[in-house]
Amino acid sequence: MKPIALITGASAGIGAELARVFAAHGHELVLVARREDRLKALADEIAASGRPRPTVLTADLQRRDAVALLAAELSSRDLEPDIVVNNAGFGLNGAATALSRDEQLAMIDLNVRALTELSLAFVDSLARHRGGILNVASMAAFLPGPGMAVYYASKAYVLSFSEALHRELSGRGIRVTALCPGPVPTEFQARAGLRLDRAQQMLTQPADRVAEIGYRGLLRGKRVVIPGAGNKIAALLLRFVPHALLLRALDQRRRDAGAD
Ligand SMILES: NC(=O)c1ccc[n+]([C@@H]2O[C@H](COP(=O)([O-])OP(=O)(O)OC[C@H]3O[C@@H](n4cnc5c(N)ncnc54)[C@H](OP(=O)(O)O)[C@@H]3O)[C@@H](O)[C@H]2O)c1
Repeated sequence: MKPIALITGASAGIGAELARVFAAHGHELVLVARREDRLKALADEIAASGRPRPTVLTADLQRRDAVALLAAELSSRDLEPDIVVNNAGFGLNGAATALSRDEQLAMIDLNVRALTELSLAFVDSLARHRGGILNVASMAAFLPGPGMAVYYASKAYVLSFSEALHRELSGRGIRVTALCPGPVPTEFQARAGLRLDRAQQMLTQPADRVAEIGYRGLLRGKRVVIPGAGNKIAALLLRFVPHALLLRALDQRRRDAGAD
């Protein structure tokens, strides 16, 4: 079976940049998302740069059968992952009681359930190739997020799960890295119904830089990677701020911004 790096959410934003970085470093790719036209355009672009053309697999990872279907598709093409990049994800801005419950549960299906299943589904082939798993969490993993409660909680899960897996799988030669970007201008903001405030704008990093830092972190076997000095400092400070204070400040900021 030919080893490939499987990248979810490769049709836009950070995932598309991760695909470009992995391809530039010589990895053969399988690109996964729902929008086939976008994936094909990216595969064409990568092929035009002289790299092997990535395989495109469309999948809606919110569906319960998605990972099983992906695994069957890979094996029918004689492909197996040496690297899994769980990048697909989305957020929703608004009070948890005001947002659609179905949409928030769908977010958990994608950000948590599919990521967990994909992290576990290919462990044998990852071990055979001494490969790894790059899970895209967020700075949101380090604090509760009133106004985006389910999203923040989903990313706290991604961080906690990935750190534990880093330990559990190290004995099998599999690297596991949680990538925790701060704000990155992508389609994420429009999908979430979010506008970046001034503090967030100062912490912004471009998607291509985040992808390169994530790639290097995975190869070095880092447990957690936080792109950007400002985000690193913020993550450190957040460890010492009592949550009661933090929640009050976050709530005030939301009210000042005229949120619900
Ligand atoms: N942008 C930020 O500020 C930021 C900060 C920290 C962490 N992150 C995390 O980074 C990751 C990538 O986000 P991004 O900023 O690059 O967002 P983006 O530009 O909106 O891209 C999201 C990707 O996820 C895919 N996706 C969404 N729903 C899917 C589904 N049901 N099945 C399969 N694929 C699906 C989308 O593809 P299709 O629509 O074609 O399916 C797209 O390729 C997410 O996990 C996000 O939480 C983002």
